Amino acid sequence: MEKIIRIALDGPSGSGKSTIAKKLSSKLNILYLDTGAMYRATALKAIALGIDTHDEEGVKTFIDDIDLQIKYIDGSQHTYLDGEDVSERIREPHVSMAASNISSLKVVRLKMVEMQRKIAGQMSCVLDGRDIGSYVLPNADFKFYITASVDVRADRRYKELSLKGHKVDFNELRAEIEQRDYNDKTREFAPLTKAIDAIEIDTSFMTVDQVISKVLSYIER
Ligand code: DC
Repeated sequence: MEKIIRIALDGPSGSGKSTIAKKLSSKLNILYLDTGAMYRATALKAIALGIDTHDEEGVKTFIDDIDLQIKYIDGSQHTYLDGEDVSERIREPHVSMAASNISSLKVVRLKMVEMQRKIAGQMSCVLDGRDIGSYVLPNADFKFYITASVDVRADRRYKELSLKGHKVDFNELRAEIEQRDYNDKTREFAPLTKAIDAIEIDTSFMTVDQVISKVLSYIER
């Protein structure tokens, strides 16, 4: 039987993890799981129900029965909530902060981690998130911590959202990224952290291809 390999890519918002994870998974011909999409869809559910994303008791009323599914269409991940493909809607700017808030709730994390471990237990995959190497898959074969300066990350997000036609203010976006960093790093349960055995790569002044080469150089070693 072929060996299953699991690669964990963690890091703060806008560090380039998802671009790297997507390319890496296609080069290695393995699955890519964007775990942030799952927290985003959970936030969307709370918003639809009119439940505050900080309200643990409110979130408890739906989290156990959430109809959240990850499907792969032509190799790319689609996120379904209550049977609807919400892959685009979860990228809207207001969902980002809501996802950061809801992801700090332990009930939410336990549910998401259970689903992530189930998917990762079945096949070789690259997972990107905040706690993959430190909590979800502590025995992952490779762990990378992908980071970049706040300015570079805000600039990347600004360009990405502007291209999609969203009107965004750079300074507001930068402040929001700092706030999300703070939320993600200081939450009590499974915060964003570099696993002790993770390799840190600062992508601030690197192209995507340079980062991929670096990551592959460790994997192929
Ligand atoms: O990667 P992203 O920006 O799409 O993630 C959205 C939010 O979800 C992020 O602010 C933190 C949270 N998240 C998390 O707590 N753990 C993960 N494994 C992935 C995302």
